[in-house]
Amino acid sequence: MDSAVSGSPGSWLATARRRFVASADGAMKTEVVQDRMTLRPVQESELADLVRIHTDPTWPGEYQWFGFRVAKAREIERRWAEDGLIGAADGTLSVELEDGSFAGVVNWRPAGETGNLEIGIWVHPEHRGRGVGTEAQRQLVNYLFATKPVHRLQAGTEIDNVAEQRALERVGFQREGVARGYGFRDGQWRDGVFYGLLRNDPRARPAPLDASG
Ligand SMILES: CC(C)(COP(=O)(O)OP(=O)(O)OC[C@H]1O[C@@H](n2cnc3c(N)ncnc32)[C@H](O)[C@@H]1OP(=O)(O)O)[C@@H](O)C(=O)NCCC(=O)NCCS
Repeated sequence: MDSAVSGSPGSWLATARRRFVASADGAMKTEVVQDRMTLRPVQESELADLVRIHTDPTWPGEYQWFGFRVAKAREIERRWAEDGLIGAADGTLSVELEDGSFAGVVNWRPAGETGNLEIGIWVHPEHRGRGVGTEAQRQLVNYLFATKPVHRLQAGTEIDNVAEQRALERVGFQREGVARGYGFRDGQWRDGVFYGLLRNDPRARPAPLDASG
């Protein structure tokens, strides 16, 4: 499986990002934290956490619970046994923090029949709001453009999911449009926002370690 990551999302990359913290008066403020993280193939020990996204409503956090999807959970287990969740057309990688903890996953899949790819991400709620989602998608973009002859990457999210929209914009994605009533979650149809990044578009670099946010 190691060969699947050569060309690599790679080496440990440093980021300095902000963490949301509650101040004494209850208001939210941000502070700078520094993380080192990398993308790598999903390990067997992480499969249970992946499967829980589809089988345990308390686990995936905001924006990610779409009801019990047991067939999808079984498919993840089957695919892991078959190819480590890295196939010719699609794939999933774990986000690992410097301390070895599993923070979430990124994935990619064909964008219709275009030959281009759509990306996705899930960060566990305990790791959100401190730059992990931004850095993971930055590394994924670099990995995909380095290892596949793809011209365009795309991503979509709900119109209220500001964190994902900001993360995509930080990475370099351009907002391309809104599709009304696109997805159903938590009892409502919700508008979707769509983003694209072309191979030659400007892309983000990692924040310097001494960045103040
Ligand atoms: C969306 C998601 C990947 C973002 O990852 P994250 O690690 O929480 O995000 P980051 O800490 O990198 O923050 C990204 C940006 O959003 C902002 N942000 C973070 N949490 C926020 C919140 N709760 N409300 C508003 N803005 C927020 C950050 O300030 C940052 O913006 P900035 O660079 O302008 O400061 C993560 O929250 C997640 O996994 N959510 C559930 C699954 C999901 O929504 N996937 C994507 C669409 S399907």
